[in-house]
Amino acid sequence: MAEVMLTEVTKKFGDFVAVNDIDLNVGDATFTVLVGPSGCGKTTTLRMIAGLEETTQGEIRIGERVVNRVPPKDRDIAMVFQNYALYPHMDVYNNMAFGLKLRKIPKAEIRRRVHDAAALLGIEDKLKSKPRALSGGQRQRVAVGRAIVRDPKVFLFDEPLSNLDAKLRVQMRTELEQLHHRLKTTTIYVTHDQVEAMTLGDKIAVMKDGVIHQYASPQETYDHPENQFVGGFIGSPAMNFLNARVATEDGGVVLIGKGFRLVLPQGKGQDLPSEVIVGIRPEDLEGPAPNGENTMEMRVLVTEPLGNELLVYTDCGGERVVANLDPHRRVEVDSTIRLKVNIDTVHLFDRESDQTLL
Ligand SMILES: Nc1ncnc2c1ncn2[C@@H]1O[C@H](COP(=O)(O)OP(=O)(O)OP(=O)(O)O)[C@@H](O)[C@H]1O
Ligand SMILES: [Mg+2]
Repeated sequence: MAEVMLTEVTKKFGDFVAVNDIDLNVGDATFTVLVGPSGCGKTTTLRMIAGLEETTQGEIRIGERVVNRVPPKDRDIAMVFQNYALYPHMDVYNNMAFGLKLRKIPKAEIRRRVHDAAALLGIEDKLKSKPRALSGGQRQRVAVGRAIVRDPKVFLFDEPLSNLDAKLRVQMRTELEQLHHRLKTTTIYVTHDQVEAMTLGDKIAVMKDGVIHQYASPQETYDHPENQFVGGFIGSPAMNFLNARVATEDGGVVLIGKGFRLVLPQGKGQDLPSEVIVGIRPEDLEGPAPNGENTMEMRVLVTEPLGNELLVYTDCGGERVVANLDPHRRVEVDSTIRLKVNIDTVHLFDRESDQTLL
């Protein structure tokens, strides 16, 4: 077991900066997820940790050892790739045993490790099958099994579930969670799926343009995003953003935008700039509600009943606003509705810097 520490790590491809001066401290036995939009530098970061890509600058430490100059095979990591990279001509047993044979591990020990891993993953009856005879989920398990038998200090996963259909993805996600719970191996996991990030990670690093914008627990990134990008990336459907003017009335702070007027709780919102971006999560809108303080009027464009929730897409003063409402309320398309804003959970962002103000 080991912690993984990246200090001021940069990766350039020619003049292009793919990873820009990041710090990341992954605690021993913890599960960290790197999440962010396509091209933000997740895979590059993981490949640098694995040693498949050299760092341009900065230091990578695994346990007590600085590994910048250590070749991949000596870093004591195991990586699971998106495409699994199984050997098509070998059966499952040999796919899992291959790396151990290269390391000259005694035969009996290899047998024990492969059978243990296969039992853990529920693929004991597939050990003699070739990869082509396996389902996507089974192939995925073999790829994970191949990582487990190595008993590495660190697991690195790069989008291991993205080739699976939606249902299997959820199943394999919970299996990976259970696996981590049992093995407690330090894990760094890359995905662009924020639900996967939230459910798997002890901590998640939200990346964009080669920079980590926040590294915190899933709940912390949801409750207290450090900037507008994180606010919009974490949570589904995404947070609504509305422009507003800041005014003071009767000693309190009021946010005035097209079609809404929000009164902040007493004592909140002092020292705000004159214009801000208001962030309201769909689940922080309630209604339909009667006219009153901190309500917004909007025209319903589309409704999506999902059984457990009702998503309502609306136009509020020319801006799109999504609300997540009680599915048992009736909401008609093309009608005008009024929703109450949970003012205690409203987020405010700086228009210039994107940083969180409140
Ligand atoms: N070998 C390379 N040469 C040049 N540019 C590269 C190379 N590898 C990656 N890049 C660039 O670096 C950036 C980050 O790539 P990376 O693969 O790390 O993104 P990612 O976050 O994993 O994206 P995705 O979610 O699409 O897999 C991209 O703009 C990519 O084009
Ligand atoms: Mg990638």
